[in-house]
Amino acid sequence: MNILIMGTGYVGVTTALVFAELGWNVTGLDTDSRKIQTLSEGKLTFYEPGLEDLLIKHLKTGNIHFTSSPEKAIQENHIIFLCVGTPSDADGNADLQFIHEVAKSIGKHMDGYKLIAVKSTVPIGTNGKLVRWIREAQSLPHPFDVVSNPEFLREGSALQDALNPDRIIIGSDSTHAVDIIKNLYNPLQSPFFVTTPKTAEMIKYASNAFLATKISYMNELSRLCETIEVNISDVAVGMGMDDRIGPKFLKAGIGFGGSCFPKDIKALLHTAKDYGSELSILDKVIQVNQTQSSHFLNKWEHKLGSFSDKKVAILGISFKPNTDDLREAPSIAIIQELLQKQAFIRVHDPIAKLPTGLLSDRLQQFDTLEKTLHRCDAVILCSEWEEYRSADWTQMRTYMNQYFVFDGRNILDGVQLTKLGYHYHGIANQ
Ligand code: UDX
Repeated sequence: MNILIMGTGYVGVTTALVFAELGWNVTGLDTDSRKIQTLSEGKLTFYEPGLEDLLIKHLKTGNIHFTSSPEKAIQENHIIFLCVGTPSDADGNADLQFIHEVAKSIGKHMDGYKLIAVKSTVPIGTNGKLVRWIREAQSLPHPFDVVSNPEFLREGSALQDALNPDRIIIGSDSTHAVDIIKNLYNPLQSPFFVTTPKTAEMIKYASNAFLATKISYMNELSRLCETIEVNISDVAVGMGMDDRIGPKFLKAGIGFGGSCFPKDIKALLHTAKDYGSELSILDKVIQVNQTQSSHFLNKWEHKLGSFSDKKVAILGISFKPNTDDLREAPSIAIIQELLQKQAFIRVHDPIAKLPTGLLSDRLQQFDTLEKTLHRCDAVILCSEWEEYRSADWTQMRTYMNQYFVFDGRNILDGVQLTKLGYHYHGIANQ
């Protein structure tokens, strides 16, 4: 089967490679010709474990190729997956300009039946708009179906997630379209859930918002646990043993970030407002998330005395490990607050880089832990890269001036670090 993927970001490239791996003939289309050139040379434009090897493999098998010419690509493929971005606009609503553009392009160039599957996260009701936009752009009334097929992969484990989805959601009113989509995914042997397009769109938002709610719940609870000296990680273990709760997404920390949770919750809140409905729990989820890092930063400052003119090492700036993505990363909020507190900040990340425009004599990035920790008074761990968990902390101590370790992800062995002479503080993990 021939599949066209429109949009070659995280979701688009991963989806394209999974279909190529399943043996389908895949074309990746993007308006950014530099991106297309890079992908055609077997290189990714972002960091994601395992993906580049698969890209090189399928450029060789011929199962995948890339183009920036929509006309031929749309005409040669019956099945089209939309994987373009839907960033937040100034009001927090999902900006549908890229969806609108691809709809116009499909309508203009199609010359026969097309099945259009929407992977991008889009506000409830967008599939209906898409049908209208495609019709408006058509010169002849060629038939087409639109299917909502939301994607649930996570950055850092995108390939594994996309190859082993917990479920495949198909929102469609057309049994013909549902059969085609099922056939495409059949080799993955994951369960299907077929529903209406609007319900499928809502499932995506509701899932992300619920996962974020679990995290904010634990983060707010961690503030109380810190005060009454209860270990939040142990609370999470005990809670997670209940099948009804489950152990995942209960890790307290300095807050969630990334390209999805903050954006999707804002978009869902926007939808609720548009329909005169309230989602007050989600208002609170955002509020807890926005204040979590400064809540703990203030506590840690108290331990140190003051951050003013102190040298502080930030370990891990990406919003989570195994990605170079800085979007909505809690580390950035911490860095901004430390700058206001007049600290000197020395940053390290195994992959992610701070934009050079942000760097100054007070904010520098280094490529080794030795250089980063040189004469530092405190370390703040912001994302849980394995490199930091398994670092030689005996050696690290020799680089430092004072020995404060503030663990924003509760991944280090506090007992061991204390034995080594550090002043260790995490998130309610006493
Ligand atoms: C998320 C959803 O998990 C995925 O299904 C959807 O397709 C896209 O959005 P992603 O943003 O890539 O994926 O990463 P995820 O692993 O969900 O982590 C999001 C944020 O939550 C990270 O900042 C992470 O550090 C934080 N987090 C996660 C916690 O603070 N505690 C947890 O227990 C889990």
